[in-house]
Amino acid sequence: MRYSDDIIEEVRVKNDIVDVISQYVKLQRKGSSYFGLCPFHNEKTPSFSVSPAKQMYYCFGCGAGGNVFTFIMEYENFSFGEALKFLADRAGVELPQIEYSKEAQAQANLRSSLLEIQKAAASYFYYNLRRENGKTAYHYLKNRGLSDETMKKFGLGYSDKYSDDLYQYLKKKGYSDELLLESGLFQADERKGIYDKFWNRVIFPIMDVNSRVIGFGGRVMGEGTPKYLNSPETKIFDKSRNLYGLNIARTSRKKQLIICEGYMDVISMHQAGFTNAVASLGTALTSGHASLIKRYTDEVLLLYDSDEAGVRAALRGIPILRSAGVKSKVVNLKPYKDPDEFIKAEGPERFEERLSKAMNSFLFIVQTRESQYDLSDPQGKTDFYRDIAARLLEFEEELERNNYIEAIARKYGVGMEELKKMVNQLAMKGTAAQNYSRPREVRKKEGTRESGVEKSQKLMLTWMVSYPQIFSVVEEFLSPEDFTTPLYHRVAKMLFQQARGEGINPAKLLNQFMDSQEQSEVASLFNATLHLESPKEQKKALTDTMIVMKKASLDHQIANLAPDDMKGLQELLYKKKELSNLGEQLQSLNISFE
Ligand code: UTP
Ligand code: MN
Repeated sequence: MRYSDDIIEEVRVKNDIVDVISQYVKLQRKGSSYFGLCPFHNEKTPSFSVSPAKQMYYCFGCGAGGNVFTFIMEYENFSFGEALKFLADRAGVELPQIEYSKEAQAQANLRSSLLEIQKAAASYFYYNLRRENGKTAYHYLKNRGLSDETMKKFGLGYSDKYSDDLYQYLKKKGYSDELLLESGLFQADERKGIYDKFWNRVIFPIMDVNSRVIGFGGRVMGEGTPKYLNSPETKIFDKSRNLYGLNIARTSRKKQLIICEGYMDVISMHQAGFTNAVASLGTALTSGHASLIKRYTDEVLLLYDSDEAGVRAALRGIPILRSAGVKSKVVNLKPYKDPDEFIKAEGPERFEERLSKAMNSFLFIVQTRESQYDLSDPQGKTDFYRDIAARLLEFEEELERNNYIEAIARKYGVGMEELKKMVNQLAMKGTAAQNYSRPREVRKKEGTRESGVEKSQKLMLTWMVSYPQIFSVVEEFLSPEDFTTPLYHRVAKMLFQQARGEGINPAKLLNQFMDSQEQSEVASLFNATLHLESPKEQKKALTDTMIVMKKASLDHQIANLAPDDMKGLQELLYKKKELSNLGEQLQSLNISFE
């Protein structure tokens, strides 16, 4: 499915970026732009800017940026298609239907019907909990310390004692058996026909980040097995890509997310003010969870149960998070079993204190390894240090490695130099690291530090977008070929085309970049910082930039010349010589930045 560029542009134009973003972020006017606290990273002073002229946003703190589509995609976690639909609805633009393939249309209908069913079921359960029949369930939750407000916030409910009341309720709304069976809320067998999956349980609706109900968990009241029943995965419920509570936690504006095991843990933490808590849904943490988390934070606290399973879960989770670029710390809740119990017994202040004592995840791993060895035995002790040395080897950066060596030497009373030596010896052998292969952290590619030339090209793009009137001058001296960085070249080509035709329109240009990573990067091209005071300074900077670019571009051409092209070489060298004249020529130009 692909909408025409015209309709995409129409939707964009009809959604003023300042209006749209104001619905999510408090913005304040400063000069020609608006500023506010960035919704994509945690900050105390505003570095998030929205430009009405460019119809773009850009955060000088974290580099997030784009047009109105990008914003909605990032904020609401929508695909491009979803963002387009959302903004079309908002502006009253009717999207053509024909462009869906039949199959895609059917899939979209199925998904929206399934969402509708979950929503209807959630209200049904919710209503049940609050009427006479739900009294026991209501008291069960009350006894567990939940306030009415908390129950409401999490949409808690109750599935009644009848075996098919939800089924009858939804049948009356006209849903087919086939669809109801796909919802995961029912089971079927030959003898009983179709019947409710959840029966006499308190109900925890599971929502996606946009607060749409996608499944349920149901707990027996008191003892009984299974303790929790959960919806199976369906077309709309992917357990490895959703976290319980994230719809609320993502707006908590805290630096970290807290990851715990259970529904009740999340709920009691939120009730105690720790609104950044989420739980994986009765499954182990996956890389899908980790990349979901990475959208909101790059640091988490792991609050797994204080039993062996909890330790195992943390040990499994740490490297998964790390390979997604998320740092983790481990919180010790002993002697309590889980966060819910801890808070009930000790209260929020003590809990906060424990959070602040969270243990570095590497030291946590070391500590769990320690218990595997008999440290009173010389051999056991040696083996333990070898184990640790091999793990230390995984830190590629020397400074980081040395910091850990120091911390461990101090904690275990071993000489720092000896430990270092051991690590180095292992490194020589070159084998150890393989045994404990550490997922590479997501970090910037080597050499991504901006070169001077790149910076000049970027400045030029920002100038062209900020002062479209300089184009006629720029065009005389530069062409898109002078933007040698591939992405910049692509952007410059589009910008030149726009300038020669309908006029420069950076937000429209962004429509061509669907990938949000690319959009941010392009947005950054249009938002290089111009620290310029007087028009004279501006002119000087502009002409200097042109010369730097031109020189780099000629060097680039020379480098790419066929080895036997002597004539070409001569021409290029001549042009390079000419550059000194260009400076004077440019100075005499009449360029206005008004
Ligand atoms: P717990 O057994 O620790 O439950 O399981 P809990 O969250 O502390 O709940 P309470 O306080 O006993 O009521 C942690 C999580 O594992 C999943 C659920 O998501 C639960 O919240 N689980 C547990 C199941 O899916 N099924 C089960 O039978 C048990
Ligand atoms: Mn628990």
